[in-house]
Amino acid sequence: MKISKIILSTVIVALVFIVGCSTQQSVSEESLGLRKTDIYTENTTQGDKTMYGKSPAGTSKTFKRAFENSPPMIPHDTDGMMPITISYNACTGCHDPAVAPSMNATPIPKTHFTNFRPTTSLASDGRIVKNGNKVINTSDVKISSKALGHLAGSRFNCTQCHAPQSTGKLIVENEFQADFRKKGANKTSNLMDNINEGVK
Ligand code: HEC
Ligand code: HEC
Repeated sequence: MKISKIILSTVIVALVFIVGCSTQQSVSEESLGLRKTDIYTENTTQGDKTMYGKSPAGTSKTFKRAFENSPPMIPHDTDGMMPITISYNACTGCHDPAVAPSMNATPIPKTHFTNFRPTTSLASDGRIVKNGNKVINTSDVKISSKALGHLAGSRFNCTQCHAPQSTGKLIVENEFQADFRKKGANKTSNLMDNINEGVK
């Protein structure tokens, strides 16, 4: 009696297993990742060649901004302009607002001549002090702006934020579409005027 029960349950388990296997759907390797190609080789996933703009500054065409107040991409050739060092910054030579209009270059905006960083220290009780006020949450601080009259040190290394744009094809298409709230906001920035937008 006991043995026949064991045999019966073994048969049921085997049946369930067989039925389960036969209805199982196969998943192709290609469908596993975003790249939709075989995952065992890199041959099919090599991106297009990097193709930065080769037109010298003054002859290139600016790119539309990726989103409102995004750092514009560099449209022109940057050969010979890098690396930026403490004693060599070719970018300011053309983009400094004093010379930019005569070079037909976009002037470096006001934000780059402003210090947005609050004076920060630590109180004796361990609390963080921002602009003289003890704060609990450092992101609650309203951004203060202090015009410097010179390029802010944090903006000196232009290529930390501004990069050339390659025109090669993408393996995974970029479907991001930016919403620009004002006409022309895809060609210029206005961050200085609304830096505290939405902050009480
Ligand atoms: C010889 C002058 C010159 C130098 C040097 C130069 N630029 Fe430019 N830049 C221009 C001009 C002119 C334009 C406008 C497009 C054009 O006419 O080629 C421009 C456009 C740009 C833009 C796009 C602005 C927009 O409104 O979309 C960025 C960003 C930029 N340059 C960054 C840089 C950076 C970063 C460097 C240093 C690595 C640099 N440039 C060096 C002259 C220069
Ligand atoms: C910390 C990041 C950062 C650095 C470093 C930086 N930029 Fe920018 N830049 C931005 C952002 C973000 C914007 C768009 C918002 C704004 O205007 O501030 C911008 C905007 C610009 C614009 C477009 C202004 C306009 O009116 O549309 C120019 C030109 C520019 N930067 C040039 C430069 C140059 C030249 C340097 C180096 C001297 C530099 N930037 C360094 C982030 C940076």
